[in-house]
Amino acid sequence: MTSSFPFRTVLVTGGAGFIGSRVVPRLQAKGARVIVVDNGYVGMPLPEASDGVVPVDVDIRDQAAIAAVLAEHKPDAILHLAAVHHIPTCEQKPHLAFDVNVLGTQSLLDGAAAAGVANIVFASSGAVYRWDEGSLDEEQTQTGATDVYSITKLSNEYQIAGWAGRTGARAHIARLFNTIGTGDPNGHLIPDILTQIGTGEAQPVVKLGNTKPKRDYIYVDDVADGFVALLEGLPEGKDVEYFNLCTGNELTVAELVGLMGELMGVDVQIESDPSRFRKIDRLQQLGDPTKLISRRNWKSQWNARRALAKIMGDLGYKVVGSEAV
Ligand SMILES: NC(=O)c1ccc[n+]([C@@H]2O[C@H](COP(=O)([O-])OP(=O)(O)OC[C@H]3O[C@@H](n4cnc5c(N)ncnc54)[C@H](O)[C@@H]3O)[C@@H](O)[C@H]2O)c1
Repeated sequence: MTSSFPFRTVLVTGGAGFIGSRVVPRLQAKGARVIVVDNGYVGMPLPEASDGVVPVDVDIRDQAAIAAVLAEHKPDAILHLAAVHHIPTCEQKPHLAFDVNVLGTQSLLDGAAAAGVANIVFASSGAVYRWDEGSLDEEQTQTGATDVYSITKLSNEYQIAGWAGRTGARAHIARLFNTIGTGDPNGHLIPDILTQIGTGEAQPVVKLGNTKPKRDYIYVDDVADGFVALLEGLPEGKDVEYFNLCTGNELTVAELVGLMGELMGVDVQIESDPSRFRKIDRLQQLGDPTKLISRRNWKSQWNARRALAKIMGDLGYKVVGSEAV
């Protein structure tokens, strides 16, 4: 184990998913033994068992099974990523979202308390903040969830803070913003735009819903590094701490499309498609990453242009200019 990493065994729920599959090898590289818990809900495979990785196919809602895994492996810390994260699914199937996100989290916390696990890092969301203009800040901005997904995440924040208070455990709650990268089972915006642009036409037309909402897009490798930095810093600071995991920069969907067109060397036209408009869509969601940068060993390494060039290269699109990878 490297001297800076404080935990011998870490249990990662949702460890087979988009972000989890990037965190697990980083924890292994830190010398930690990683127990990967995932029920395969999004269809990504559990990692192979090895010296440092124990894959466990378990549903976090199964109270007895998750308690048994925790009792058997007695991890020093938990990174809790498992959730129903696809926002349209949460709206269409609220029972499923509350069952997995709220009751599943409660099963995990109950099992952790019984097994004496006293450290947790949790993937919350920037969506728990009240709709606000300007940069969202952990200390100043009020929370105020509106849609099913953000209600489950805000509930999880209360569940975890209450659990930490009752058991004397430590918790870092990461409010994560829009994560981009290849291999996201829930993220269809970028592949959809690329498919529409990649028709070979000189002036492709891209059909989209509302192109005005601004988002703080963060590259998945920055997110994975952020979770490792949060685990590393968990023994420091207050018992329950909140950190934005974001870049502090924002782009509208139209700007995102423009950037992708530039990277492909084409002039993209946008056509509005009312059938793609979301019923609930906040206009802005920009995070302030100052706390994480100043208090933990983390800084975003990927600006949007470089991240998009990497994604496009990974997906087999030709990137022109200096960003070509
Ligand atoms: N990707 C983003 O933009 C983003 C933004 C904010 C917060 N988050 C949160 O970060 C976490 C990880 O996100 P992700 O993008 O990797 O999502 P993901 O859907 O790729 O990964 C979630 C994993 O949880 C697993 N899972 C779902 N239900 C389960 C259950 N009942 N039991 C066990 N495992 C279960 C899935 O199979 C999947 O592998 C989630 O909690 C998500 O809400 C993600």
